[in-house]
Amino acid sequence: MSARVLDLHPAPADLVAVVLEGLQRRPRQLPAWLLYDAEGSRLFELICEQPEYSLTRTETALLEQQAGAMAAAVGARPGVVVEFGAGNARKVGPLLEALQPGAYAALDISAEALRQACTVLQQEHPQVAVLGVCCDYSNLPALPADPLLLQEPRLGFYPGSSLGNFTPDEATALLAQMARLLGPGSRLLIGIDQPKPVARLEAAYNDAAGVSAAFARNLLVRLNHDLQGDFDPGAFRYEAHWQREHSRIAMALVSQCEQQVNLAGHGWHFAAGEALITEYSVKYSPSAFAALAAAAGWRLERSWSDPEGDLSLHLLTQADSDPAPPTHQP
Ligand code: AVJ
Repeated sequence: MSARVLDLHPAPADLVAVVLEGLQRRPRQLPAWLLYDAEGSRLFELICEQPEYSLTRTETALLEQQAGAMAAAVGARPGVVVEFGAGNARKVGPLLEALQPGAYAALDISAEALRQACTVLQQEHPQVAVLGVCCDYSNLPALPADPLLLQEPRLGFYPGSSLGNFTPDEATALLAQMARLLGPGSRLLIGIDQPKPVARLEAAYNDAAGVSAAFARNLLVRLNHDLQGDFDPGAFRYEAHWQREHSRIAMALVSQCEQQVNLAGHGWHFAAGEALITEYSVKYSPSAFAALAAAAGWRLERSWSDPEGDLSLHLLTQADSDPAPPTHQP
């Protein structure tokens, strides 16, 4: 049985606007979703297998061990589980087994990865109706009007600590948008990577095999291809540094020389040493995350961590599911 996939990928014109805006910023910075073309998704899967990058292995093991407890904490059987940025969707299996939801919707920017993931998942879970939605989940004003997505209650699933790609303000706005998308009474199970020793963090984002660097450089290859550009990926050095004041890893491509690049019909000047930020990866302690979630209208219900305390899965419920407070009469 093959799964349905809806295509809401940003149009080429939107891509141009996003790239122009990002390249005009100082420092220059492009949104992380641009990293995930077909080759980017393949390289990201390879990052997840590098010895220095333990996040995926740790979170997958935690989900396998605690899926039963997580399902018990969720309580009512969800009508639909909505995963944000599902990628290859290799994490949700134990939850689908434990929760037995009516449906599962995978949202992801990478059409090829999504189609494959949904096909595999539908075969493995024939009793769950699987739907793929190719979209930028960080800019989704409403869920598509598909009957599968109307099932209630809804459980959001946002593993991998991808929230870290956003600044805290953006992350708050994204969590609030997810609350609106999922609706009153919904829950969100979210994976958050925690601060840890700097050497470990920097190694995780700059692996010895060079996969992290290739993943970042592929952004330039992708832009060349999609926006008629002439970036020389070899003329940029990859760097990943911990910025303690922001509790984040900043990943950047740094121009090795003064150079002129043509892209999307414009010329772009890069000074020697000028950075193009490809990604942030913000790390939150459980208490810092709870405060962020509260600002977005979510209440932290329960958390699970691995024995080393590297990362946590947090179960959130909507704080404003109560009726509106009475208005004051003069
Ligand atoms: C997919 C955003 C969770 O920040 O750890 C990993 C992306 N980039 N190595 C992360 C990433 C380079 C990853 N997230």
